[in-house]
Amino acid sequence: MQIPLKITNPEPLQDRLQRPLRELRISVIDRCNFRCTYCMPADSLNGRGIFLPLVKLLTDHEIEDLIKTFVELGVRKIRITGGEPLVRPGLPGLVERLAAIPELEDIALTTNGVMLPRLAEDLAQAGLGRITVSLDTLDETVLDHMSGGKAHLGQILDGIAAAESAGFRQLKINTVVQRGINDHTIMDLLEYFRGSVHKVRLIEFMDVGNCNHWNRSVVVPSAEWIEAINAKWPIRPVNKRSAAETAQRYEYADGQGEIGFISSISKPFCGGCTRARITADGLFYTCLFSSKGTNLMPLIRHGEDPAELRERIISVWEKRDDRYSEERGLPGHDQEKVEMYRMGG
Ligand code: GTP
Ligand code: 5AD
Ligand code: SF4
Ligand code: SF4
Repeated sequence: MQIPLKITNPEPLQDRLQRPLRELRISVIDRCNFRCTYCMPADSLNGRGIFLPLVKLLTDHEIEDLIKTFVELGVRKIRITGGEPLVRPGLPGLVERLAAIPELEDIALTTNGVMLPRLAEDLAQAGLGRITVSLDTLDETVLDHMSGGKAHLGQILDGIAAAESAGFRQLKINTVVQRGINDHTIMDLLEYFRGSVHKVRLIEFMDVGNCNHWNRSVVVPSAEWIEAINAKWPIRPVNKRSAAETAQRYEYADGQGEIGFISSISKPFCGGCTRARITADGLFYTCLFSSKGTNLMPLIRHGEDPAELRERIISVWEKRDDRYSEERGLPGHDQEKVEMYRMGG
């Protein structure tokens, strides 16, 4: 008898809303050295045991195999997140394994920046493609408040400088904006990066997780920024490169660079969402606001047939109909969500 050839991925895998699976955001650790009030407020971490024990984390080898399976199914872009991903021991080694997967076109990392002076060079050597640094303000007092007393501006700026010297030419700077908290410092931050190659993205404060005391009145809709910035430094929209982009991009008319607006509250972008998420312990989520995930760990760590893992991922993605940001506030959306530091940003 002739054994039929295994035809891998004859049709691109799509969800119920015809969105392909293209990007995987993997949280490599849920711990963080900051306590940002909008993500992991210190008062929400009651006692010990809230973070995953290290033995529960996927190993580098397991992550590599898992990502290869996602790549077979169409993923071409990986974003490494946390918690703070640089807190995971030996991250450059993991990056090196991922960089060796030929089909992957883009490997990016989101970090708070403070460990970059130690690690940027190794990450560059390992083959990391891009870095995004989170920085909400240049005002030390506001930064201290927003990071739960943990961030020092000098350390983050040193991290940015270390990334530049390691060869990460163009960084993205993620800035979460909260009305009455850091909105009065945004113009200074924009001015600081104007004229550089780095791209600041102003992010609307989102209702991720359950502990960040989200309230719509604290959200500054991007339209307000677009108007205010345009009045000071005229800006014009830049065409989207792909429907999957999270940010609306604008450029300064005087050629001084680009800024982005991530408007999950005022202008959701679920229609082009091709992002899957994996937690550090192997839970697979199809939306940043999901309440329930699919535990892939048994298939990763103890599974005997790699095809089973593949089939499980396919069956989850084929059922996917998430569009939380477009349905925000409708009945049936008040379940407990997974915390962002667990799921990754
Ligand atoms: P590129 O990889 O350069 O396209 O960047 P990105 O926009 O995917 O990167 P980043 O991880 O920096 O995301 C920026 C922010 O956008 C995140 O920190 C989240 O706050 C938000 N974000 C990213 N993906 C999603 C998503 O699928 N849904 C929602 N609502 N927000 C998202
Ligand atoms: N709303 C918007 N962005 C958030 N981030 C974390 N929590 C929130 C939130 N509640 C962003 C951080 C970081 C990325 C990982 O996610 O600023 O850049
Ligand atoms: Fe840490 Fe990033 Fe969350 Fe801040 S937003 S607590 S830096 S994981
Ligand atoms: Fe994707 Fe969910 Fe974000 Fe919409 S809310 S863009 S479906 S992750």
